[in-house]
Amino acid sequence: MHDKYAVPVHVAIIMDGNGRWAQKRGLSRSEGHKAGVKTVKLITEAAANAGVKYLTLYAFSTENWKRSKEEVNFLLHLFVDAINGYLDELKDKGVKLNFIGDLDGLPYFLRKVMQFAKNETKRGETMTLNIAINYGGRREIVQAVKKICESHVKDINEEQFKQFLYTANQPDPDIIIRTSGEQRLSNFLLYQSSYSELFFTDTLWPDFSKEEFLKILEEYKNRKRRFGGA
Ligand code: FPP
Repeated sequence: MHDKYAVPVHVAIIMDGNGRWAQKRGLSRSEGHKAGVKTVKLITEAAANAGVKYLTLYAFSTENWKRSKEEVNFLLHLFVDAINGYLDELKDKGVKLNFIGDLDGLPYFLRKVMQFAKNETKRGETMTLNIAINYGGRREIVQAVKKICESHVKDINEEQFKQFLYTANQPDPDIIIRTSGEQRLSNFLLYQSSYSELFFTDTLWPDFSKEEFLKILEEYKNRKRRFGGA
């Protein structure tokens, strides 16, 4: 029987394993990240076609600045190329691009491209694609608290608190997927993940396929979500 709740509304993914994928092939880490961009396209398409309404991808964490200068620089420019190269397709498919994170901490050349792409895709109604970039869950919560202190809000409840997060007006993720065998959240969507169903796969991100993604969506249907109820 068709269950209208069967397709998750919001899927979030920790895209991990680009470096190991490259290492296994004797390639540079940069090659791994390039291969990762291809998977981003595949999975974005698969999610939109499956009826997912929000897809959130963890592209760069507040901790990723600790990587070598070369790698950080490569990634920031790769984001620019990926956004520019994918923009027309996103527009055609009706995907609205959104960025979540401490965006002020990003270089101007990247923010400019992000702003342009966000504006170009703002009418998209098929799916919202959140790219988490310079994102940290703890920083998000602390920034929310700061905003609340600066506002004139006197009393606050959980729903109101959510409006101060980067994901204001978006539903919490139903599913969080992490590739490459690590089983932790690594500061991703800390407030929003309270009741998310977690899926871990050993597949490295560049090898993650549409088929495996759809299999996870199938498996999700069989999980019984109780949200703390009996
Ligand atoms: C994790 O692999 C991947 C990243 C930190 C970067 C993610 C970036 C992409 C997939 C490229 C493009 C993204 C977008 C949104 C256009 P890792 O380097 O941590 O791998 P490792 O754990 O094997 O070293």
